[in-house]
Amino acid sequence: MTLFILLIVRSLLTDISKSCQNSSCKVTPQRLIRDSYILSSCIPHFFPLPSTDMKAVFTIAGARVQVRDTEIPIPKEEQVLVKMVAVAQNPTDWKTIKLARVVGAIVGTDYAGTIAGVGPGVDDEKYKLGDRVAGVLHGSLNKNGAFAEYALVPVHSLIRIPDSWTFEEAAQLGVGTTTTCQCFWQSQNLPKPFERPSSPPTTVLIWSGASATGHYAIQFAKLSGMRVITTSSPKHWDRLKALGADACFDYNDPEVSEKIRAYTENKLKYAVDCFSEKTSFQKISDALSEEGGTISCLFPSPYKLRAGIKLKFTLAYDLLAEPYKFPKVYNPRAEDKAFGDWATDLVSEVLKSGKLVPLPMKLYPNGLASVQEGLRYMQEGKVSAEKITYRISDTPGIEA
Ligand SMILES: NC(=O)c1ccc[n+]([C@@H]2O[C@H](COP(=O)([O-])OP(=O)(O)OC[C@H]3O[C@@H](n4cnc5c(N)ncnc54)[C@H](OP(=O)(O)O)[C@@H]3O)[C@@H](O)[C@H]2O)c1
Repeated sequence: MTLFILLIVRSLLTDISKSCQNSSCKVTPQRLIRDSYILSSCIPHFFPLPSTDMKAVFTIAGARVQVRDTEIPIPKEEQVLVKMVAVAQNPTDWKTIKLARVVGAIVGTDYAGTIAGVGPGVDDEKYKLGDRVAGVLHGSLNKNGAFAEYALVPVHSLIRIPDSWTFEEAAQLGVGTTTTCQCFWQSQNLPKPFERPSSPPTTVLIWSGASATGHYAIQFAKLSGMRVITTSSPKHWDRLKALGADACFDYNDPEVSEKIRAYTENKLKYAVDCFSEKTSFQKISDALSEEGGTISCLFPSPYKLRAGIKLKFTLAYDLLAEPYKFPKVYNPRAEDKAFGDWATDLVSEVLKSGKLVPLPMKLYPNGLASVQEGLRYMQEGKVSAEKITYRISDTPGIEA
């Protein structure tokens, strides 16, 4: 009964708010909806929210960022509200801020937290309040980004965090694991985890294995029974071998391509370019067999590669299934949404099996207030086999 009354009150408030939109009403529509939202915090679809406002990292003029207060968003169809516990940084965060130059957007792609509210059309038996989740958002373009106390997330993009992973560790899962899935199983049709491995094993080259994407690509390749060859700075070789790499090469070695081609007896057919900049395309192309092969890449190649080399470019944002600008306009297809759903379920299963380990973390001391510093560190090219992470409760003004 209480639930019924509260839903009616909420619906009435929404109607009043709509009628205020074209009048001189002093109460803003947004405020009315918010009051009803707080009221409906008493019903099972929402956790009681302590406030109507939250802190978030906003883009400001000059491609800079600043922590500001804003209203907690309301989940729409097939969305949940996630209360962020920790968030992690990706190169796309500084690149989008710098290239898109949207002022007043919330920054951040990777997050981990708990479900705090469930929108319409969401199966609330499957997605329960308090569930531990992680994933990807498209930050720095609009008012929904990961570097905030709360954000809205499409349910099909949620990764389940097992108890064995802390929120700080899980914050790095989104982009790294979904990109790996796209490179292996959307761009190419390589062996999968939990399936019978091919015999003899498929050999895959993972270029830039110490990058965040490489870290997950090596592990997923190994879990899929593949033979893994990777490149990185030599200081990371022991760690990458412990993750599952069978052979490591130095990407700075002028003869790296010839050495990989000799090691693979001119038979290498599959590669994932986790750097996709400068000359990586060319070097990978030279390492593949004379007949050619397929390279999954994270940016389009500016170079024309030799005959027989297929380049397959994907963006993790496609899996969110919303049109976006980066910098041109992309219109994800229905199959991207379905793939995102499949990929995040697969990642959740692999996590549950306990066979994945996180990248070493570089935790900044002041939570969201440290983001400007973290962005600078990353933009200066200082990140090496580590994941910049921010704990939300470390932010001045936010209580644990
Ligand atoms: N398309 C997509 O959806 C997508 C998704 C994820 C990432 N990306 C893009 O992919 C790139 C990698 O992202 P990430 O987050 O995985 O990277 P990251 O963790 O920030 O990468 C850092 C690593 O880059 C490596 N590196 C530096 N110079 C290199 C070179 N010349 N050749 C090869 N590796 C080099 C370093 O390896 P060492 O420490 O071994 O020197 C370092 O560990 C970025 O440009 C990012 O924007 C795109």
